[in-house]
Formats: sequence, C-alpha cells, structure tokens
Amino acid sequence: MKTIIEPFRIKVVEPIHLTARSEREAAIRAAHYNLFALRAEDVLIDLLTDSGTSAMSAAQWSAMMRGDESYAGAASFTRFEAAVQNLMPFVYVIPTHQGRAAEAILFSIVGGEGKIVPNNTHFDTTRGNVEATGAEALDLVIPEGRDPMADHPFKGNMDVAALNALLAEQGARVPLVMVTITNNAGGGQPVSMENLRAVRELCTRHGKPLFFDACRFAENAWFIKTREPGYADKTVKEIVREMFALADGMTMSAKKDALVNIGGWLALNDGDWAMAARNRLILTEGFPTYGGLAGRDLEAMAQGLAEVIDEDYLHYRVRTSAYIGEALTAMGVPVVRPVGGHAVFVDAGAMLSHIGALSYPGQALSVALYEAGGVRSVEIGSVMFGRQADGSEQPAAMELVRLALPRRVYTQSHADYVIECFAEVNADKDHLPGYRIAWEPPSLRHFTARFEPLG
Ligand code: F0G
Repeated sequence: MKTIIEPFRIKVVEPIHLTARSEREAAIRAAHYNLFALRAEDVLIDLLTDSGTSAMSAAQWSAMMRGDESYAGAASFTRFEAAVQNLMPFVYVIPTHQGRAAEAILFSIVGGEGKIVPNNTHFDTTRGNVEATGAEALDLVIPEGRDPMADHPFKGNMDVAALNALLAEQGARVPLVMVTITNNAGGGQPVSMENLRAVRELCTRHGKPLFFDACRFAENAWFIKTREPGYADKTVKEIVREMFALADGMTMSAKKDALVNIGGWLALNDGDWAMAARNRLILTEGFPTYGGLAGRDLEAMAQGLAEVIDEDYLHYRVRTSAYIGEALTAMGVPVVRPVGGHAVFVDAGAMLSHIGALSYPGQALSVALYEAGGVRSVEIGSVMFGRQADGSEQPAAMELVRLALPRRVYTQSHADYVIECFAEVNADKDHLPGYRIAWEPPSLRHFTARFEPLG
C-alpha cells in the first residue's frame, strides 16, 4: 500500500504554531535571515536535526518513573548495561551525557600528536575531538560516497584499498580504525556488512582495534536487511549483533537511535582503556554508573534500544525519507541519491543555479522554505564551510540543504506539507535572491552570522 502507516497512535500532543506568511517574513528578518536565530515556536516543521528530537514512547515515559537515582550502583545502570549488551556485546559500557563526550574520552586516551585516525567520514565533533589531541582525522569513504549523484546502495563504505595502504605504510601511527554507521555525510548513507567484515579483517591483520561511531546503527541494519544479498530473512536484531561482533568498541549518541532526548555511551573490550576511560569520566562526566545522566535517562535509553530495532518502525522511518526524496525528484528538485536514513539532502547549488556559491544558494533555499511554510532546514555549503583558516573565503565542495527527520514526531501529512512547500518554492525559484553576510563571528559562523538579501 502507498500510505505510510506510522506504527504508533498519538497519546500526547504538542501543538505547533500556524503562522501567516507575513509573520514568517517578519520573524526571519528579525533573525537576520539565520534559521538558527529563529524562536523554535515560530517554526512549523522543524527539520534542523534528528538529534535529541525524538518522541519517546509511553513505555519510555513509564520506565523513567522507576529511574534509580542512587549515586553509585543504581539498578537503572544495570538495566541500561544489559540493554546495550543485548545488542552490542562489549565488556565495558560507560554512560556519557551525549556522543561527543564519549568521543572526547576515547581520543583523550588513544589520540595525540603524530597519530592518524581513519574513518569513512568523521562527523564534525568526532573530527574536532581527534584534532584537539593533535592527531589527524582522515576520511577514507569510497569515491561514490563523495559524489552526490552516484547511485550506490552502500555509499558509506570504507575504501578498503586506501585503508590497507594507510595501515601498511603508516600503521604505527594509527591507534584504531573508526567506521561511522550510518555515515552522516549525504544524509545517513549505510555501510554494508561485507565492507564491515573487510575492514575487520584488515584491522586483525594489522593488529588494530575497530570502533564504530554507531549513532544510527538500527537504520544501518535496516539498509543491510533490505539491500544486501543474504540478509532479507535475518531479523534486524540478528544483523545488529552480527555488525557489533566485528568491533572492539563503539561511541554512541543515544540522541539518535536510542530514541531519547539526551544520552550516549562508550563501550569497549579492552580493560586498560576502560579503566583509563572511567578515570577520565569521573573527572568530566560523573561516577561510572551514571556518567553525566540521571538514572531515569538510563531507563529511557534501555527501553529505546528495545524499540528502535522494531522493523515496522524502521520501515516507516526509512520510507518517510525516501517518500520525500521521490516527490522532490518528481518535481525536478535535485536530491542527493540514494536518499539516506535520517535526512534528505537537496542540491541547492543546482536548483538555484542563478545564485553563485558565495551568494549562498543553500541559505537562499532554506530562507525560502521557511517563508513559504515555516519549514526549518539547514544549509550545508559555503556558509558552513566557506571561511578558511587563513581568513579567505572559498566555495564549499557542494551547496546542500539538509532536511533531517526527527524520529516518530511527524506523520505522512507533515511530509506532504513539506513537499507542497517545495512545490511553491520551486515554482518561483528563479526569482529567489542570493544573500550576503553582514556580520560573522571568528569561527563556526553558520550558527550566528547575520545575512542580508541581495537586490
Ligand atoms: N557522530 C555522528 C555521526 C553524529 O551525527 C553526531 C551528531 C555525533 C557523533 C555527536 O553526537 O550530538 O550526541 O554529541 N550529530 C547531530 C546532527 C548533531 O545533527 O547530525 P552528540
């Protein structure tokens, strides 16, 4: 059937505020055309990120009531640890307040001057935490993973030949190998089991631990089930266990595939590294049985892990992003292919070809979508990446707009509404203005820059 059935009914509702176009035009002008500066209540459909924006289930909210807030040895920790180990059989499970805290702890132990950390593509906080120790963060995704229009079922795969060459030539400098599942770049592109196995073999041959940055592990497992030969009859849980049996450890942002609003963990098998990690955790996060979270947060993660591997849920989730991608493609809006798990990426540079890269076509599209229907997206192009360390400005490799989908929050009619907003913007696209930056901070300018429309 064509209708996407959200596999839940709604028990608690959160009103969203309908605004008139004139109100949105005033709000975005007051925000200096920066969507990060909008008040969230002035946004109708918020597709800024899928991180920490999930709707929790009735079972998660009731589990929170039994949160054990003991400082040490809480029963909630035991339940959380068992839920993680049920899917990811690592010996040591160390909770943290979110993913980047797990990364900071891991790289404070294994990073340092002269080291190289390979990954398919480092997420920006992962890269930041590697580089903060003086180490180099090296992206080794397959060439198709860098080409927005290349159709490949596993665009997140690691370039195994490049990794082999690195380990053969500079292996002594590599403390561990990381694979990000799904690869956030391009909207959550999956990594195949075959590729994970090949990376595991290389790591074993060169004596290197393999870690997963596993924020969206369940979506990755769903793509393996639906796209990789030999997996159609396996359950997602079996696939998840098979994936993690290949690794020596993981970092996790529970704000994605543990279906919670805050949380994360570091899990690993090496006793010495675990001891060092717990010592660091006590300094920066908290005692090892709560790690920067409340007992109730551990309960919500434990229950979320049981729910995220539900196949009806994963079908609904991945179908929704594909549905938006198909509709945009049908109206001639260029979309990064194939559509990934958690987001749809629009090629704003190609769509608004009359706007030069340094007049920010991605910003122009994001502002137009907000003005048309109150949809908040995020520019991933020259606003985000254009300012260089030497102060000059260079166009980014691509001018994209990301529509990231919160988990279990929006329905098919919300998706249809987003598609309608695109139709309206697309009909008038040749008249959309570019932008100039009127003010920007010394770094990470996309969060606070002020823009002015050109012409
Ligand atoms: N790794 C990946 C692949 C991520 O996508 C993120 C967060 C993190 C690590 C860091 O986790 O936010 O819990 O500290 N990604 C969000 C996003 C922010 O919008 O893509 P965190």
